[in-house]
Amino acid sequence: MTERDLAETVAVITGAGSGVGRAVAMALATTGGIPVLVGRTREPLAETAAFVSNGGGQSLVLPADVTDEAAVDAVFARVAGELGRIDAAILAAGIGRYGPIESFTRTDWDETLATNLTAPFLCARAAIPHLRNRGGGAIVAVSSGAGKQGYPQLGAYSASKFGLMGLMQGLAAEVAADGIKVSTVVPGSILTPFGGRSVEEKREAMANDPGKKYLEAEDVAAAILFLLRQPPHAWTQELNLWPF
Ligand SMILES: NC(=O)c1ccc[n+]([C@@H]2O[C@H](COP(=O)([O-])OP(=O)(O)OC[C@H]3O[C@@H](n4cnc5c(N)ncnc54)[C@H](OP(=O)(O)O)[C@@H]3O)[C@@H](O)[C@H]2O)c1
Repeated sequence: MTERDLAETVAVITGAGSGVGRAVAMALATTGGIPVLVGRTREPLAETAAFVSNGGGQSLVLPADVTDEAAVDAVFARVAGELGRIDAAILAAGIGRYGPIESFTRTDWDETLATNLTAPFLCARAAIPHLRNRGGGAIVAVSSGAGKQGYPQLGAYSASKFGLMGLMQGLAAEVAADGIKVSTVVPGSILTPFGGRSVEEKREAMANDPGKKYLEAEDVAAAILFLLRQPPHAWTQELNLWPF
């Protein structure tokens, strides 16, 4: 089995200013790939770009709100124009708003669905023609264990991630004939500032509860790089990754 060489692979990575997105960008850059760093805030993206360039890599910073249809289309058009191709879209941007449904606000519901479900739809749709032009490529979405099982306080988040799993499964069947591999990574808890709690708070929670475990963002990044490296004849459609 010959693994794919990721040198010069152009991957649009959403959520690249933090956590999983940043870790994927850094891991891809060390293989010689070129991550395109997308997120709403420029400063953390510039910080990721600095980490990449300190390691000798190359990246492109494109701040954008992935819930904004025109902004998403503009990102993909600009990447294709500036870098000449797009090989992969890694959809890691997400938000975690938690609370009981009885008191959950309509705004939190709408923003959860917009970011975790509509945005991957917009990004995947924008990526497809560019990937097809290359004769294929990869779309990788980051779901969650809450995308396969509902938990109290997580109703909106779970609804968005269950929806994402369905979107990716349907899309996978649509574009496989174009050589586009659509995959979903399904991780358990990850040690990032996701969901309104800092990494320090999560470390403290772990210290106080030996049963509480987290993945590192780098573990999820390694799983995503594994997907990108798979040879043309092999495709992992869903990858479940739990802390141990
Ligand atoms: N951490 C966990 O325990 C965990 C577990 C399972 C699955 N996940 C999933 O893993 C993915 C990555 O999460 P993470 O842990 O890396 O979280 P994170 O550290 O909070 O990073 C999330 C990133 O998404 C970006 N983002 C949010 N809304 C956006 C928007 N509208 N447009 C563009 N970018 C946006 C944020 O940047 P800006 O705010 O600057 O836009 C941020 O960089 C998410 O999809 C999450 O649901 C996380």
